[in-house]
Amino acid sequence: MKNADVINHVKGTSLFIDDFPAPEGVLHIAVFDSKIACGKITKLNYDKVLSVPGVAAVITAKDIPGENQIGNIVSDETILADGEVEYIGEPIAIVAADTVENAKAAANLIEIEFDELPAVTDPREAYEKGNLIAPPQTFSDGDVEKGFAESDVVIDGRVDIGGQEHLYLETQGAMAVPSEDGKIKIYSSTQSPTAVQRAAAKVLGVPMHKIETDVLRLGGGFGGKEDQATPWAVMTALVSRLTGKPAKLILSRQDDLRMTGKRHPYSADYKIGLSRDGEILAYEATYYQNAGACADLSTAILERTLFHATNSYFIPNVKTTGISCKTNLPPNTAFRGFGGPQGMFVMETAIYKAAEKLGVPAYEIQKKNLLKENDSLYYGQKAERVQAERCWNEAAEEFNLQEKFAAVKEFNEKNNLRKKGVALMPICFGISFTSSFLNQASALVHVYTDGSVGVSTAAVEMGQGVNEKIRSVVSQTFSISQEKVKMETTNTTRVANTSPTAASSGADLNGNAALLACNNILNRLKKFAAESLKEDDPAKVEIKNEKIFYDGKETGMNWESFINDAYFNRINLASHAFYATPEVYFDRTINKGRPFAYHVYGTAIITAEVDILRGVCEIESVDVVHDFGKSINRQVDLGQVEGAVVQGIGWLTMEELVQNDEGKLLSNSLSTYKIPDIFSAPKEMNVKFLEDSENPFGPLNSKAIGEPPFMYGIGAYFAIMNAMKEYNPNADKEIRAPLTHERVLMSLKNLK
Ligand code: MTE
Ligand code: HPA
Ligand code: MOS
Repeated sequence: MKNADVINHVKGTSLFIDDFPAPEGVLHIAVFDSKIACGKITKLNYDKVLSVPGVAAVITAKDIPGENQIGNIVSDETILADGEVEYIGEPIAIVAADTVENAKAAANLIEIEFDELPAVTDPREAYEKGNLIAPPQTFSDGDVEKGFAESDVVIDGRVDIGGQEHLYLETQGAMAVPSEDGKIKIYSSTQSPTAVQRAAAKVLGVPMHKIETDVLRLGGGFGGKEDQATPWAVMTALVSRLTGKPAKLILSRQDDLRMTGKRHPYSADYKIGLSRDGEILAYEATYYQNAGACADLSTAILERTLFHATNSYFIPNVKTTGISCKTNLPPNTAFRGFGGPQGMFVMETAIYKAAEKLGVPAYEIQKKNLLKENDSLYYGQKAERVQAERCWNEAAEEFNLQEKFAAVKEFNEKNNLRKKGVALMPICFGISFTSSFLNQASALVHVYTDGSVGVSTAAVEMGQGVNEKIRSVVSQTFSISQEKVKMETTNTTRVANTSPTAASSGADLNGNAALLACNNILNRLKKFAAESLKEDDPAKVEIKNEKIFYDGKETGMNWESFINDAYFNRINLASHAFYATPEVYFDRTINKGRPFAYHVYGTAIITAEVDILRGVCEIESVDVVHDFGKSINRQVDLGQVEGAVVQGIGWLTMEELVQNDEGKLLSNSLSTYKIPDIFSAPKEMNVKFLEDSENPFGPLNSKAIGEPPFMYGIGAYFAIMNAMKEYNPNADKEIRAPLTHERVLMSLKNLK
C-alpha cells in the first residue's frame, strides 16, 4: 500500500501524538475510572492525592466550568461521572501531574464508595426491562404478511453476533497547549476535529473560536475515533484551562481496551419466505443492538443496519425493526461498516438456513435474488448503475467457480478429518452519511510563489490513504508533479465545521472540495495566461506536465515562472471551496428517501478448510471482483480491500469479546483477545478490478473503498459452516459469531 506516508512509516519517522515534542511544563493525565458497572457514588475523597509530589490538579464533575456533557446525537454522556456510574471504565476523576507515573500513583489514592446495583449486559434483557437508548425504528416496504402467505417455504430463527475491538495501533490520546486570551490548541488523534472542538468548547464553557483542533494523522481509527477520541481530548483541554499548563493524555493499551466502546454486538430474530424455486418473497427482522451505557452513535449505526438489511438482494416485502438497548458496558461505537455488517450477516444467515430447508446451495438463492438495474431498495431508493450481477458473474468466471466446487467436492470425498467449504459473498454498500447534513466538506488550496502547493481539507488521514488520493486529485487537476503538492494537517481554523472522516466518504467529499478549489485557481490562471499572451480565449489555455499551452501549442512558460508572474500581477493564488453531495435526503416520518449518492458492489468467493480433530480453520483463498469505479490509486485501494477482508474475517472467526455478568471485560489484553496475524490471513487473495464502472459522484469517477470490502469477511463464516457440515450435518444448529476454533470444535462434536 504505497501512499505519501509510507517512507516515514517504514523509517519510523512519522509522528503520532505521543511523539510530538511536549512543551515545557506539560502535565500528564491519569484517568480514575469506575470499577463497578452500575451504582451510585456515595463517597469520593481525594485529600491524599493532593499531597503527592508533582500533582497539579484533581478534577471531578463539580470542577467543570461549562457543561458536563459530551453526547453527540443524544445528550446523555457526562465527561466525568456525576453521582452515578453506568459501566466499568467510566471516567470519574482526572489527576494531572508532572509525570505519567506520578499521575497514576496519585489516582490510585482516590477513595471511593458505591451503592452497587445489578448490571445488565444482555441487550434482550435490557429490552425486557425497558432500558432503551431511543424508541425502536421500523422500516417497511410491501406487505410482509402477504409475502409470507404466498411463500412455499417460511423459516425463522435467532442469530447472535459478537462485537469487535478496534485495536488501532495508536491508542486514544491528545495534547492541549494553552495560548493567550484563554485560547487552547488541541492536538488530537480524532476522526472528527470539529466534534473535539465543539465538545471542548461546551465543557470549558467558551465559544468554539477559543478552541483549535489540529490533526496530523492517526495510527488507525476504524470508526473508534469518530466519537470516542473526544473525551480524552476534552480532558486535556480541561486540565489546560484549569491549570494554565499544557496537558497530555495517552491511554495505555489496557486502559483503552477497558474504557472505550467497540463494535456493537447484536442479537436478532429473522423470518424469511421463499418460493419453491428460491425467489425471496418476504423478509422480516428485529435487531437488538447492545448499545452500552450511552447513545454515542448507536442510533445512526442501528439505522444503517436497517439500510443494509437486504444486502445485495431485491426483496419485495420487507419489514425490519431496530431496537437500541441500553446496557452497563462502555458505549459501543462506530466500527468499519457502521452497523451494515450486522444487518448483512443476519440476511446471509437467513439465506443459509433457507437453502438448507430447500435443499439447494445458498449461492443459488443469492444469485437468483441479486439486485437488478432500477430495482427499488426497500427504503425507497432506486438502484442505479447496479453492478451486482456483473461482479458475481465475473467472479464466477475469472476464478473458475465450477472447478473450485469440483475440487472441494473431490477433496471432501477423499478426506475424513479435513473438510473444505466454499461460500460466495455479494455486497452492496450505500455511500453517504445517512445523516444527510453531514455530506459536506471544504478545502483550502494555496499555491505558493515557487509553484508548490499546500492543501488543507476536512479529511483525516488514518492509514486509509485519503491524503494520497487528494494529492493525486490536486496534482492531476493542475497537471503538476505529486511532489509539488503537500497535504497539510486537518485544522479547524483552516477548514471549519468538518464532518468526521467516516462513512467511507472522506476521499469523495474532500476530494470533490479540493477539485473545486483547484478549478477556481486554474480558471484565474488561465485568464491571466491568455491576457499575458495577448490572446482572447482563456479556454484555450492548458497546463500539461507543468508547461503552459495555448491552443495546443507550447508557449514557453512553465508552471514555476508562470505562478511567480501571476503573483506579481496580483492574481489570487488561494481558494477555499465547499462541496455538498447533491440529491441525498431521507424522510424519517416515512423512512423513505434517497440516502445514498451511490452504492458499491462486489462479490467474493471464499474457501475455508477445517481440521476436524482440532477445530482449527484456515481461510484458503479469497477471490474478489470489486467495483472501485475508476480508482484514483490502485495500490491504496487494493490495500484497503486486503485490510478490510482480514479485519472482517477476524470479526467473525477469531475476535471474541468476553465480559462477566458484572460487566467486566475479561478479554482485556492481546493474550486473551485474538486478532488476525499474518498467519491467519487468507493463504491466497486475488482482487480483480471491475472494468468500465462510472461514478459521477466520486472525484475523477472513483468510488469509496474504506468500508465495503469489510463485509466480504461474512463469506468466511459461511465457508467454514459449509466445511463443518461436510463432517457433521448437524454442526450448525446455532448461529453465533464469532466462529472461533473452540466453537467449531464444540459444534462439530455437538458438545454444547
Ligand atoms: N484504513 C486504515 N488503514 N485505517 C483506518 O483507520 N478506517 C476505515 C477505512 N479504512 C481505516 C481504514 C473506516 S471505518 C472508514 S469509514 C474509512 O477508512 C474512512 O476513510 P475514507 O472515508 O477516506 O475512506
Ligand atoms: N457512517 C459513519 N458515520 C456516521 C454516519 C454514517 O452513515 N452517520 C452519522 N455518522
Ligand atoms: Mo468509519 S466506521 O465510518 O469511521
